[in-house]
Amino acid sequence: MNRTIQEPIVKMVQITKRFPGVLANDAVDLELLPGEVLALLGENGAGKSTLMNMLVGLYRPDSGSIYVRGKLADIHSPQDSMSLGIGMIHQEFMLVGNMTVAENIVLGLKDLSFAPDFETIKNRIQELSDRYGLKVDPNAVIHDLSVGEQQRVEILKLVYRGADILILDEPTAVLTPNESRELNKIVKIMLSEGKSAIFITHKMDEVIEFSDKVQVLRRGKTVNICNTVDVTPQDLANMMVGREILFSLDRCPFNPGGIKLQVSDVSIFNPLGSRNVLDHVSLEIHRGEILGIAGVAGNGQQQLTEVITGLMHCDEGSILIDGIEMTNATPLAIIKAGVSHIPADRGAMGIVGDMTVGENLAMKKYRTSEISKGAVIKKSFMRVFAEKLISAFAIKTPNQDTSVKYLSGGNIQKTILAREIDSCGGILIAVYPSRGLDVGATEAVRQNLIAQRDQGNAVLLVSEEIDELLMVADKVAVMFEGRIMGTRDVKETNIEELGMMMAGVSVRRA
Ligand SMILES: Nc1ncnc2c1ncn2[C@@H]1O[C@H](COP(=O)(O)OP(=O)(O)O)[C@@H](O)[C@H]1O
Ligand SMILES: [Mg+2]
Repeated sequence: MNRTIQEPIVKMVQITKRFPGVLANDAVDLELLPGEVLALLGENGAGKSTLMNMLVGLYRPDSGSIYVRGKLADIHSPQDSMSLGIGMIHQEFMLVGNMTVAENIVLGLKDLSFAPDFETIKNRIQELSDRYGLKVDPNAVIHDLSVGEQQRVEILKLVYRGADILILDEPTAVLTPNESRELNKIVKIMLSEGKSAIFITHKMDEVIEFSDKVQVLRRGKTVNICNTVDVTPQDLANMMVGREILFSLDRCPFNPGGIKLQVSDVSIFNPLGSRNVLDHVSLEIHRGEILGIAGVAGNGQQQLTEVITGLMHCDEGSILIDGIEMTNATPLAIIKAGVSHIPADRGAMGIVGDMTVGENLAMKKYRTSEISKGAVIKKSFMRVFAEKLISAFAIKTPNQDTSVKYLSGGNIQKTILAREIDSCGGILIAVYPSRGLDVGATEAVRQNLIAQRDQGNAVLLVSEEIDELLMVADKVAVMFEGRIMGTRDVKETNIEELGMMMAGVSVRRA
C-alpha cells in the first residue's frame, strides 16, 4: 500500500506551564493530524484549558514549542492564532453583552476596514447561520440570548473567521441535554467539512461519538494516548481519575422516617399568560429519602426550588417543614429551619474569590459552636474540617490556603458543593449538582447526597439526567409545564416511562 505518513497540523512539544504553587502542564506533547478529532480528557484542574490557552495565545508556555502545519509558531495573541486558522470556544464565554451578534462577530477582526459594511457582514452571518443550522439573528443583543444561543454565537465567530482548527473547551458543560444535542449536531457538520478539532469534554458519550483519538491528562502530565475505538467509557474514566470509578453506587436500603418537607397544592400564577408557572404542585419528602425531580429544564423545577427556599413567593398552597407552616417565609428563616440550597446558578452562591479554599469551606461553620466559641474561632478545628472536605470532594488545590480564584472552574464548583452539602441541617435542595463536573467529582457528589440521606436528611434532587435520578433517588417526580405528571418509586420505573412523562405524556399504570 502506498501509505503516506501524515504531518500533524498541530504539534506541541514538551510544553511546561507553571502558576504560583501549581505545575499546570508538565512537559506535555500533543499531536493533531489534519481532519482528526482529538478528545482531551482529564479531571477538573488537570491542565486542559491551560494547554489550549497556550495554543491560542492567551498564555505563554514557560518552555516547549508549538508547530502549526510544520512551522514553528510564535503565538502571542488570539489574533496570531486566528491568522493560523486556530479558533477556540472557551469554557467561559467571551462575548460583549450589550452588543449585537454581528458586532461581536466582527469585533477584533484585523482586516476590518474603518467603516464595516454591516449589511454585507449580516448577510454573511445569515448565510453561515443557515449552513450550520445555527439559528442566530445577527441583530439580537447578546444579553437577550440564552446560554445555548450565546454558545452558537461563539461558533459563528469561529466559522466567520474561517478557523479550520477548532478547539472546543467543554462546550456542552453549561448546556441542558437538549441544547447539547443541538450543539453536537452543529459540531458534526463542522467536522464533516474536514476541520481538525481538539474537543475537551467530561461526557463519555461525546468522546465516543466524536473523537478519533483520546489523550488523557492527570495533574498536568499526559497519562495515556489511545485510539477511541480501543477503549470503553469505563477505561477512560479510570485513566482520568487514576482509580476505579463506580458507575453504580452502593446504598443502604430505603428506610424513610416521618415527613420532613410537605408541599401542598402550590401554585404561582403567570401574570402574562394563561398557564400557571407552578400548577398545584404537591409533594412530600421523608427523613432519609431522596426525591428526584425529573423534567426538561424550564418546566417549573427552578421555581419550585425557589418557593421552597423562600426566594420566590407562591400565590396559593402551603409548605410545611417538620409540620410547621413555612409558606412564603424569608430565605433566612428557611435556612434556620435547616434547608440548604445548591442553586443551578453557582455564580450566585457567594464564593469569595479572594478568600482561601479553607475559609470558603468553613464559611457556614462559623455560626456553629464547633468552630466559633464566642468570638474565638477554633483555627485548628477549621483546618481539619477543611482538609476533610477537600479530600471527600477531591478538590484540586495546592493547599487550603490557596485563594479560591486560582482554582479551575470545576474545582470552584466542588468547593461550593462541599460546603452546601456538608452544612445541610435537615433538608438539602440540590439543583443540577453534577452539571459541569468531571466523572470523579460527579461520583463524589452523588455519594455525598446518598450519605446525607443515610444520615436521615431529606434531599430534593433536580436533574435532567434520568440515569442519575435512577442511580441516586428513592422516588422520582416528573415535572411538565409546571405540573407534577406523576411520582414513581425508582425500583418500579424505567427510563422509557420517565422519558414519556417528561415529554408530557400521561402514563397510566395498571
Ligand atoms: N491564571 C491562573 N492562575 C493560577 N493558577 C491557575 C490559573 N489558571 C489555571 N490555574 C491552575 O492550573 C491548574 C490547571 O487548570 P486548568 O488548565 O484550568 O484545568 P482544567 O481545564 O483541566 O480543568 C489548576 O490547578 C488551576 O488552579
Ligand atoms: Mg478547563
